[in-house]
Amino acid sequence: MNSAVQAAAALPSASASATPVRPLAGDAELRVAALAQWLEPLAPTTPVLAVGERFLDAASAPWLSLPVVDDGVPVGSVSRYELMQRVYIKPFGRELYGRRAVTSVMHAQPLVIPAEATIEQASRTIAARIRQPIMEDFIVVDADGRYAGMGKVLAVLGAMERRMAAHSHELERANRQLRSSQAQLVQSEKMASLGQMVAGIAHEINTPLGYVRNNVDMTRESLGDVRGLIGAYEQVVGFFADGGDETQLSARLLELDARRAKFDAAALDDLAGLLDDTVFGVDQISELVGNLKDFSRLDQAHVARVDVHQLIESALKIGGNLLRKKNIEVVRQFGTVPEIVCSPAQINQVLLNLISNAAQAIGHGQGRIGVRTHAVGRYLLIAVEDNGSGIPAEHLARIFDPFFTTKPVGQGTGLGLSICYQIIEQHRGRIRAVSTPGAGTRFFIALPVRGNAEAAA
Ligand SMILES: Nc1ncnc2c1ncn2[C@@H]1O[C@H](COP(=O)(O)OP(=O)(O)OP(=O)(O)O)[C@@H](O)[C@H]1O
Ligand SMILES: [Mg+2]
Repeated sequence: MNSAVQAAAALPSASASATPVRPLAGDAELRVAALAQWLEPLAPTTPVLAVGERFLDAASAPWLSLPVVDDGVPVGSVSRYELMQRVYIKPFGRELYGRRAVTSVMHAQPLVIPAEATIEQASRTIAARIRQPIMEDFIVVDADGRYAGMGKVLAVLGAMERRMAAHSHELERANRQLRSSQAQLVQSEKMASLGQMVAGIAHEINTPLGYVRNNVDMTRESLGDVRGLIGAYEQVVGFFADGGDETQLSARLLELDARRAKFDAAALDDLAGLLDDTVFGVDQISELVGNLKDFSRLDQAHVARVDVHQLIESALKIGGNLLRKKNIEVVRQFGTVPEIVCSPAQINQVLLNLISNAAQAIGHGQGRIGVRTHAVGRYLLIAVEDNGSGIPAEHLARIFDPFFTTKPVGQGTGLGLSICYQIIEQHRGRIRAVSTPGAGTRFFIALPVRGNAEAAA
């Protein structure tokens, strides 16, 4: 060991034993301390030639610069590059500087970074202070400003890079979370529109209820007349059965005639019409109530393992009337798919809703509804497509909202697709629609083959 090293080694040092210096206890964030390595510093009195030798020994080999420390406090650094330039390459450099103290060639404002600084802070300091080309590493000091080791600029860059990679990973995860909470938000907004349901139901039920009530009153009135008429007939019939005087008979016949005049055949026809309207109104109410009941009881459905093609056939059968009436061709493209665990009644309802919507959207004579199935991984995909009116872009985002309908009052409740949405969500599946206005619409459903544990519970 040469004299310079001995001199340096003799200096009191705050953390001579730690190699590398360990991160501060309890510190989750990566600190400079974690990158610091112990390197014997130079004393200010070390001759320049001895510094040159230090650069040649193995311990100094990985370092761009050596620290100069006076009484435990860093006072400068010597860059390998600068030493070469100023002393070894210059003519008579060694003769000029060789015996002088290292302080004559050192950089008096070395890069010093506290051990507790974060990697971000360190990289900011380095970026602000570093000289071109990079000629030095940085000196690490403890909380009291005492020499605690050396750190490499490249190590900070590497740590920063790892940090950024981790950050971008975190960002990605946060982004994913954000998107899923956004989806939840959209869903809860959808549910908020259920609040509008109350107003909707009141309105929807009130109209038919109003005329049903009115019709019942009118029917009761007409029935009163009929009862009077029957009473008058009974009296005339009684007269003939029991015998009586003629003046009474003609009075009764006159009364009968008066009643008959008041209650003519047109009133009977009206009565039939009133009753038809009443039945229609009651049907409308019960259809609405039925839909609402399905909507609120979706969680009570029975779960089974089923062949989805059977569900499709059954939905096509139930909707058959409408399909036949519009002369709609049904094209089946069934793939080889496994049975799935689901609530058959609910999935049936979804399919029926989609098929009815498709049929209702077709207003021409060449109607076609395609139903396709295939399996992809753990999912079964069902597509229901039609060549109907299509859905304008501004409606597409709202079709799954409760009460969104473009159908005339009395023809659609606007609950069909929101029920579908809820059912598919409960099965942990997905439902999406794509549409080209004027050309047609395609609904996709993806259902997990093994069902949803919750739905099965
Ligand atoms: N296949 C389709 N083609 C064109 N438009 C569609 C189609 N399916 C749904 N829609 C549009 O989405 C709206 C909402 O559909 P949804 O099934 O929820 O209610 P609805 O059919 O109007 O009423 P309900 O199903 O209660 O009788 C429809 O009014 C219609 O405008
Ligand atoms: Mg519908």
